[in-house]
Amino acid sequence: MNQNIPYGKQFIDKKDIKAVESVLKGDWLTTGPKVDEFENAIAKYIGCLHATVVNSGTSALDIAVQTLKIKKGLEIITTPFSFAATSNSIVYNNLVPVFADIEKNTRNIDPEDIKRKITNKTAAIIYVDYAGHPCDINKIKEIAYENDLYLIEDASHAIGSEFNNKKIGNYADMTIFSFHPVKNMTTGEGGAVVTDNNEFNKSLKIFRNHGIDTDLHERQSKKGYMYDIKELGRNYRITDFQCALGISQLKKLDSFITKRNELANLYKKLLENVDFVETPSNWSNVKNSWHIYTILLKEGIDRDDFFRYMKNNNIGVNVHYIPIYRFSYYKNNYNIDPLDYPITESVFKNIITLPLYPHLKTEYVEYICDKIRNYPLIKGEKK
Ligand SMILES: Cc1ncc(COP(=O)(O)O)c(C=O)c1O
Repeated sequence: MNQNIPYGKQFIDKKDIKAVESVLKGDWLTTGPKVDEFENAIAKYIGCLHATVVNSGTSALDIAVQTLKIKKGLEIITTPFSFAATSNSIVYNNLVPVFADIEKNTRNIDPEDIKRKITNKTAAIIYVDYAGHPCDINKIKEIAYENDLYLIEDASHAIGSEFNNKKIGNYADMTIFSFHPVKNMTTGEGGAVVTDNNEFNKSLKIFRNHGIDTDLHERQSKKGYMYDIKELGRNYRITDFQCALGISQLKKLDSFITKRNELANLYKKLLENVDFVETPSNWSNVKNSWHIYTILLKEGIDRDDFFRYMKNNNIGVNVHYIPIYRFSYYKNNYNIDPLDYPITESVFKNIITLPLYPHLKTEYVEYICDKIRNYPLIKGEKK
């Protein structure tokens, strides 16, 4: 294989390009009609009342946490096995991230460990649907109800996934999505928060735009210039041409997910008899959008050696994720002992992400699985 196979890649077609081009030729590059259109399209797709689109998944998380107006110093429980943006959003809002361990087969937060981590300072839970596989949402909702906690679902990996036949986006107080190029659909950079709560929706739109309490169109229609800033917001606005791309991509999302499922099934089939590889589980009550495909190598296999072997064969493997508490910022600011997270640590040691994106050729999956099968298990052998 001469060509490098990336671990993830966007799919952009002529319709996407045309949609962006037509906005670039129009009057509104930002705060225009495509923003509302994209929000309405997302809400309709999810089957919820409101969507607020922003310039990244990170911004979506930040304003979702801000909207909860939790008192400074209180705690939010989350998973350490995610991209750092998940827990950074807690820190941005002067709150304390408390990590709960994960469950091995899905790599999702373990509801039993959430229960153990609850204190009288816990205010919310942010759970992540790792790789597009929904968490044990019923159990998490039960814990939230019993302990009077808010729920934010970080579904950066999971737009289009379903739990008990209902789309992700209909379970937590607020659910966030990311539209980064490797995600299930893209706007370049971008994100969204969806909710059924009218007050949260109003507040999200204000925090996205500096804290300004009226929108541009309201002011223009009243022919007035006055507005107030009662609380501090940011500029997290997304452009109209990104929204045009998002509208066009959303139309293809279900077909992307079908392709991802076909490729994930092929990986499972081809790796079934490779005894040093464990493929991820896929519950019968979920529709998985398969944002990434990760395998666990059996204990005793040197993951980093395997990683180099795959890279040497032009296969763009990756590691999702380095546990967040291992980063210096978190080590220096929070008293976290990795030994409290035995499952996260063992999954981190053995996990590797294989390439997966809608237009990945089946021959490439066959090539990748062939290379895995032929990995020389005895150290020092020629690779
Ligand atoms: C689980 C998770 N949360 C949040 C984010 C942040 O999204 P963005 O890159 O759009 O800011 C990502 C992106 O990598 C992610 O994977």
